[in-house]
Amino acid sequence: AGVSEFDVTSLPEGTGVLTKWRGMPVYIRHRTQAEIDEECNVDLLSLRDPQHDLDRSEKPEFMVLVGVCTHLGCIPLNEAGNFAPGGYYCPCHGSHYDSSGRIRKGPAPLNLEVPPHHFADDTTLVIG
Ligand code: FES
Repeated sequence: AGVSEFDVTSLPEGTGVLTKWRGMPVYIRHRTQAEIDEECNVDLLSLRDPQHDLDRSEKPEFMVLVGVCTHLGCIPLNEAGNFAPGGYYCPCHGSHYDSSGRIRKGPAPLNLEVPPHHFADDTTLVIG
């Protein structure tokens, strides 16, 4: 019950899905190379909660994020806000996250959480 498996071949590049893990909303997004490149080029000193993009995923093309805004817990929307197409926007009070789930604008104090995850094989993502 604590572990979820997801077949990433069902997720075309440039799309995301909202699923659940341990009762929490979890986003899985198949990022484009352009999204990855953009986040890798961000100056860490400009970030409120500085983390390098590549330290936030097992495979950079598959970003896995707990879909709970670190402000007051609403579910941010994917493909919305100032950092769309890959980014997230929380409509409750206007927090903008990039495609890495890092807070970039608005009241949220911290990046979206990355849940424990790994790949059991090339196509099977295991969360938990
Ligand atoms: Fe997301 Fe306030 S709960 S911005």
